[in-house]
Amino acid sequence: MTKIRAAITGIQGYVPPYILTNQELEKMVDTTDEWILTRTGIRERHILKGEGLGTSDMGAEAVKGLLAKTGTAPEEIGMLICATVTPDMIFPATANIISDKAGIKNAFSFDLNAACSGLLYAIVTASKFVETGSFKKVIVVGGDKMSSITDYTSRDTCVLFGDGAGAILLEPTTEEFGIMDSILMSDGSGMPYLHMKAGGSVKPPSHDTVNAREHYIYQDGQAVFKFAVTRMADVSVEIMEKNNLKSEDISWLVPHQANMRIIDATARRMGVEKDKVMVNIERYGNTTGATIPLCLWEWENRLKKGDNIILAAFGGGFTWGAIWIKWAYDS
Ligand code: UT7
Repeated sequence: MTKIRAAITGIQGYVPPYILTNQELEKMVDTTDEWILTRTGIRERHILKGEGLGTSDMGAEAVKGLLAKTGTAPEEIGMLICATVTPDMIFPATANIISDKAGIKNAFSFDLNAACSGLLYAIVTASKFVETGSFKKVIVVGGDKMSSITDYTSRDTCVLFGDGAGAILLEPTTEEFGIMDSILMSDGSGMPYLHMKAGGSVKPPSHDTVNAREHYIYQDGQAVFKFAVTRMADVSVEIMEKNNLKSEDISWLVPHQANMRIIDATARRMGVEKDKVMVNIERYGNTTGATIPLCLWEWENRLKKGDNIILAAFGGGFTWGAIWIKWAYDS
């Protein structure tokens, strides 16, 4: 029987217009452009401003753009997954709200939370529904309004994050293209190092939790850095070795954009030259679920059918993973 694979057949990104620069942050907290740039690689990030706007608004923009550019009618979509840590609300799922805003009426949709690895988890999950023949057109959205959980009085975290969303269309193919292999991992013992202290069932919101500023990202940066730098590189090398891919076989590395030093270390371990690594952290910061689709979107015009692409991520949970893709189309 011919094997069906899931192939990416379209990609679209969205970032809100407001740009928060390092210079502006210098006026808000005790930091410098030089510190932020050398320690993280970030110069600016986009922030979603406006009352009543959330992750679904950015996700819906990306999805509407994706449908238009691929000539897909909303009714054709069978499933939509949204990878996010900043849902519009605890329930219903942001994926449902995105589907509604984008006119998608024939799909089942749900959210998936794997923090910065969410997009990888969502692609792998979605690909199984395509490979089994359940659906012909599936959309994966990675989107986060990180500004909604960022404490702009804390220099440790407020310089790191930005807002944005990306949408990916997956369709079946019988050719040797698409999602070829993946390795996904998680380790819940990493929870103390990166989490939000209140707002969930363990510590529901109260005046005390608000006063203690517990509804923001908490990160032990150094501890997370140590895990991220080894796990992201290890898993990227592992997927290469598992599939007999040599450094020279890799057309592009698409790393999660959390810190330029983590990206460089991963590329070095893989033996991939800098000009084959997609990096836009300078302009967007860490947009969590959106970093990888925003890269693919910006580089789409340079991708060629048959390119070997490695997606790699590490994030809260801890979660981490890598996907090997054979790109399915010339732009
Ligand atoms: O995407 C999810 C996964 N997350 C990650 O992968 C993030 C991993 N961690 C990191 O990227 C880095 O740890 C950070 C960028 C968060 C921090 O960089 P670092 O080189 O690990 O700095 P540090 O936390 O060790 O802090 C070094 C110094 C400290 O001062 P002292 O104690 O040496 O006097 C901090 O207080 O830098 C200070 N510092 C700052 N200074 C100016 C921390 N944040 C700032 C800041 N501006 N924004």
